[in-house]
Formats: sequence, structure tokens, C-alpha cells
Amino acid sequence: MGKNLLKLSDLHTDEIIAILDRAQMFCQGIDVPKFSDKIACNLFFESSTRTQYSFNVAEERLGMRVVSFNPASSSLNKNESFYDTVKTFDSFGVDALVIRHSENEYFNQLLGHVDAAILNGGDGTGNHPTQSLLDLLTIKQEFGRFEGLKCVIAGDIAHSRVAHTNYEVMRRLGMEVVTAGPKEFLEDSLDQEDFDQAVKTSDVVMMLRIQRERHAASMSMSAEEFHKAYGLTVEREKTMKDKAIIMHPAPVNRDVELADCLMECDRARIFKQMSNGVFVRMAVLERAVK
Ligand code: NCD
Repeated sequence: MGKNLLKLSDLHTDEIIAILDRAQMFCQGIDVPKFSDKIACNLFFESSTRTQYSFNVAEERLGMRVVSFNPASSSLNKNESFYDTVKTFDSFGVDALVIRHSENEYFNQLLGHVDAAILNGGDGTGNHPTQSLLDLLTIKQEFGRFEGLKCVIAGDIAHSRVAHTNYEVMRRLGMEVVTAGPKEFLEDSLDQEDFDQAVKTSDVVMMLRIQRERHAASMSMSAEEFHKAYGLTVEREKTMKDKAIIMHPAPVNRDVELADCLMECDRARIFKQMSNGVFVRMAVLERAVK
């Protein structure tokens, strides 16, 4: 289990900080190892741009050899199961399996049955450990600490593995975390606050995409109505604290959860998060294969 990265809640905070420190070294180009005898295999059973390709870049930066998998042209079309597909790549003797799948905790069925390290690139609405690590690295670079900071996570909380993962780990690291958004997207077990109030008092305003692909019924509001009521509009951004930053895991639906012109404004860290994604993925890959 040691080399896997399945959920951040499996990791002690010391281990999380150690991964972030290592990622920060890679960010500065310090002590980058070469794993030219290792093979990583990226198995994305769900769509992905950032996670899949930044893992790919991270693997390249570590000198690993990379096998990518295209579900559309694989034997999944011949009714092969998820389990048998993963077992196939494991049988090839690869060292790391980076997996994204729509089923929550898909990895439980693999534990004890594969030799390669499993790195979770997202499981359903459950966990997205590398996304949270890159979010944490971005916050650490910005503020130098976690303790005492406030983050509002806003939007489609119920369907977001990013919200679930961040809520747990940020609180563990001493941050205050509140959620905001339409009632239908919130969860009773997570602290909630009025969005306007939270925008004014947070150090980190983290916006989320509406995860329509996970909704059973279509949303009751139009995109315009959503933007006005729960989006980070130009007017709301003006009420943020001086040093507060805007984050978003992306993909962004511009002018829905975030005003188009805020995507690259001074306080936006969205593309910075993507750059940091490469460094944290290098750190977890190193941990997995060294
Ligand atoms: C997120 C995901 O897929 O969980 N994106 C990402 O990995 N950067 C969020 C989303 O799809 O909205």
C-alpha cells in the first residue's frame, strides 16, 4: 500500500507536507531523479486533459517511459471488464498505473491483485489526491502556510471529488473551509456559508464546474442565472480581500462559474495550478517507483 496514492485521507499530514516539499524542489529544478528503467501506464477511463497530460509530462520529466491507453480503441469495446483491463497492463510488468475511473473507490477491487503502484487520477465523486496536492502547493507558495487561512469552495460540491478531497485535507492542515452554492449541490455534512459573505472573508475562493455528466436530472437554473447567483462575477471579485486568490481545478466554463475576464486576472492562479500539477505528479511518481 505504501507506494500507492489512492486517497489523501490515507496519508499522515507529515507525508503530505513531505510530498509538497519535494514538489517545490522540482518546481525549482532541484534534485530531479531519472527513472529511465521505469514504465508508467496512464489508464484514463474518463475524460481528462490536465490530469492525464500533466502526469504524462511529469513521467517524461522523470525520464520514465510512458504507455498511454485509449479506451475508445481498446477491448473495452469487446466487453472486457475494467478489472481485466487493468490486470492486463499490470501483467506487462509496468511500474506505475495512473488510473481515472467513474466508479467511487474503483481501486478497492484492485488492491492485492496488481503489483504496480496505483496512482489515483480521480475516482467518481470520491477522491482526486493529485489535484488537492497541487492546490495545496499553490496555496503554500502564495501564503507560506495553511494554518488560519480560509477557503470557500463554491459550486457543484455534491458531485465534485475535488471538493470532497480538499475539504478533508485542508481542514486537517488547519484551514477553515466552507462550501457555498445552490442548495441542490450542497451537502449537509459540510459547513456552509452564504456565498457573498464567504467571498468577502476568504483567502482562497475556489470555484468548481457544474458536473453535468454526473447529474441524474438537468439543473433547474440557466447558465446566466447560475452565474448571477453563484458565479464569481466581476462585482463579487471586487469584494475579495486584498491578497485573496482565485482557484479552479478546470476545465472552466467561462461566464458560468467564473467571469470570462477573471480567468487570467491578477489574483487568478488557475494556470499556476496547472504548472504545479506537473511538480506534484513528479513527486508522487517518485514516491511510487523509487
Ligand atoms: C476536475 C476533475 O476531473 O475532477 N478536473 C481536473 O482534474 N483538473 C474537475 C472537473 O472536471 O470539473
